[in-house]
Amino acid sequence: CILSGSWKNELGSNMTISAVNADGGFTGSYHTAVTASDKRIQLSPLKGSQKHTSQRKQPTFGFTVSWTFSNSITVFVGQCFVDDKQKETLKTMWLLREEVGSRGADWKATRVGTNVFTRNK
Ligand code: BTN
Repeated sequence: CILSGSWKNELGSNMTISAVNADGGFTGSYHTAVTASDKRIQLSPLKGSQKHTSQRKQPTFGFTVSWTFSNSITVFVGQCFVDDKQKETLKTMWLLREEVGSRGADWKATRVGTNVFTRNK
């Protein structure tokens, strides 16, 4: 299962991941289909790492998306799975942290969810 390439999730968000380097590092870009902000969506950079580059068939990985159009940040963790028909899916969980105005508002600053990505053909 190869992380590099173009992926889409069930929300309609698209991301492109570059080649994974020898240390497992990768970069890419993320175009979200939805936003919790009131801003206009813009393409945002992502940075991540994959475990045990090319040594494992179904590697784990994590990446951070630093949204260019809001004050929030999202981290994703997941695993790349490949089925018996060689179809690849990225099963992920994410945490979205938004900026709040005070410590008293900290309780509502983090969202959690899951996303499943399939490769764009
Ligand atoms: C924001 O709303 O401040 C930035 C965009 C957040 C989009 C989130 S990240 C988790 C979930 N998966 C997506 O593809 N988009 C949303």
